[in-house]
Amino acid sequence: MSQQYYDKRITRILELKEARNAVILAHNYQRGEVQDIADFVGDSLGLSQQAARHDAEVIVFCGVDFMAESAAILSAGKTVLMPEISAQCPMAAMITPEDLVRTKKEYPEAAVVAYVNTSAAVKAESDICCTSSNAVQVVNSLDEDVVIFVPDKNLALYSQRYTDKKIIPWDGYCPTHHQILPGDILLMEEDHPEAEVVVHPECKPEVIDIADTVLSTGGMLSHVKKSPNKEFIIGTEVGMLHRLRKDNPDKIFYPASKYAVCPNMKMNNLESIIAALEENRYVITVPEAVRVRARQALDRMLEAGRGD
Ligand code: 13P
Ligand code: SF4
Repeated sequence: MSQQYYDKRITRILELKEARNAVILAHNYQRGEVQDIADFVGDSLGLSQQAARHDAEVIVFCGVDFMAESAAILSAGKTVLMPEISAQCPMAAMITPEDLVRTKKEYPEAAVVAYVNTSAAVKAESDICCTSSNAVQVVNSLDEDVVIFVPDKNLALYSQRYTDKKIIPWDGYCPTHHQILPGDILLMEEDHPEAEVVVHPECKPEVIDIADTVLSTGGMLSHVKKSPNKEFIIGTEVGMLHRLRKDNPDKIFYPASKYAVCPNMKMNNLESIIAALEENRYVITVPEAVRVRARQALDRMLEAGRGD
């Protein structure tokens, strides 16, 4: 992208934002240019908190489907736009509300914790939501001793390490984090023996076992800023390195695996943000009966706050 073309796109987005009283929220895995134009860049929990408290009339949500849906659930009366409607999270698609209702019948004594990477309809069938930053805290806050945890088996197994409750994991996973292998980390460590290994809890258990630190993307940002270490091997979606490098120009970051790319997170771009604001597309709505029940699960999570 030439500098002149880029500057023109940015100017147009700023004009449209003002004209429509809009705010742009972007996840830490978005393309660099999308992160740079956003009003707030953060992890799933931070983005939900922003959506709940922001007073703009329009929210342009640069992330994936479940994140925009959460914003629509939390900010009734506002217009939530997704620039690219096909930016869908494959892990969220690994469970349906019907699947969950069936499983709840098998374990009537269990509470249901839904990772925010789920549809609104699945959240509506859950007791409480969590993100990767507060999953352990949410599980431990429950009265029940048995927890059905959907849909990420890796986050479920990670949470099991820090609770006496019995967790029943769903068999879902993030295809992007599954591409990070222990061998990738060991190879990087050979080249950078001083580097701290920081990974996301969506990684496989065998990757978590060899990491120094396990954190959500928001947790990684605050940890790295405070850490005396100068070099880091980062085990999560590679978009994370943009923000880490921007915020910490004196530190060095290596991706654990260059293959850890989420194609869905990379769909939004400056052109589609402009089209979203010009054409009021794609408006995300949630049926009211679902929204009210899903909101209860999200509100309970927001009360729990951050865990990392
Ligand atoms: P967090 O940013 O909450 O850590 O979530 C990671 C993720 O995969 C979102 O899709
Ligand atoms: Fe879904 Fe994984 Fe992409 Fe996040 S990184 S949106 S969990 S596929």
